[in-house]
Amino acid sequence: MGIPAAAASFEGKLAITDAEYERARTMLYGACGVALEGDRRPLVLGRLQGVIRSMKLVSFTDYLDRVEADGSGRLLSELVNHISTNYTYFGREWEHFEHYRSRGIPEAKRRNRSTRSLRVWCAATSTGEEPYTLAALLPDIIGPEYRNWDGGVLGTDINTDVLETAAEGYYDAEDIERLDPDMRKRWFMQEGSRVRVADRIRRDVLFRRFNLTNPMFPWRRPFDVIFCRNVMIYFDQTTKKSLGERLANALCKGGYLYIGIAESLQFNRKLLRPVQAGIFERI
Ligand SMILES: C[S@@+](CC[C@H](N)C(=O)[O-])C[C@H]1O[C@@H](n2cnc3c(N)ncnc32)[C@H](O)[C@@H]1O
Repeated sequence: MGIPAAAASFEGKLAITDAEYERARTMLYGACGVALEGDRRPLVLGRLQGVIRSMKLVSFTDYLDRVEADGSGRLLSELVNHISTNYTYFGREWEHFEHYRSRGIPEAKRRNRSTRSLRVWCAATSTGEEPYTLAALLPDIIGPEYRNWDGGVLGTDINTDVLETAAEGYYDAEDIERLDPDMRKRWFMQEGSRVRVADRIRRDVLFRRFNLTNPMFPWRRPFDVIFCRNVMIYFDQTTKKSLGERLANALCKGGYLYIGIAESLQFNRKLLRPVQAGIFERI
């Protein structure tokens, strides 16, 4: 049952009415396609009340009015940063990296032998664990000739905060515990109490802000591999279907799309063939 239109208070914190919650939900959906399901009022309250207070505003309505009136789009972008879920970790769904290592990149290497170029896109990069792993594996898979290849990873996300963290490449020692000791040794440098992704790997990853709900993908050349994992789960069927189509069209023939293992995709059978849980091959 919905909370009455009168402001509902969560443990004495700032209150949000049904109408304000709906308005925030609609704004978020319009900005990034994230469709908050069910009653996520505690999440919205929890993530935004500090922001509202720091702006010296007294209600959600005042805050949402400000966001709407901000022609620069900065406040809307910050709203997305506050609400988006950025959970990720090194080695998540490792079977996809195994496939990338045994099929995705070796097949691209054969296909692109004459151009010696490799294009990998990590499309919901969060704090960088996934794109750095993809880049770190490339020299191992391609072998010594990798230095003569034009290879690298494009890491994109809508959230500018996580992109900043990702670009710096610093992690805590426990963040990399799931990786093999050999990978930890070769991929990271100790810097004070933290570890940093080795320079040679950081150089191979380019981070950019990109909204996956953008109806047109601006990429001029197709990708050999696209990782777009654990983001579709936040989208509704309409957004997922259209995103699946655009991702398939951004892949070269024989390239692979990786989505989260628990995610589903209504895919176009003329463009994609499922090969393994969360893995599709571009036909
Ligand atoms: C749960 S994380 C997944 C991170 C990583 N891919 C993984 O599987 O561990 C989801 C990421 O998707 C991003 N995201 C949400 N909506 C997006 C959109 N419309 N365009 C691009 N990125 C988006 C969020 O900012 C967040 O960093």
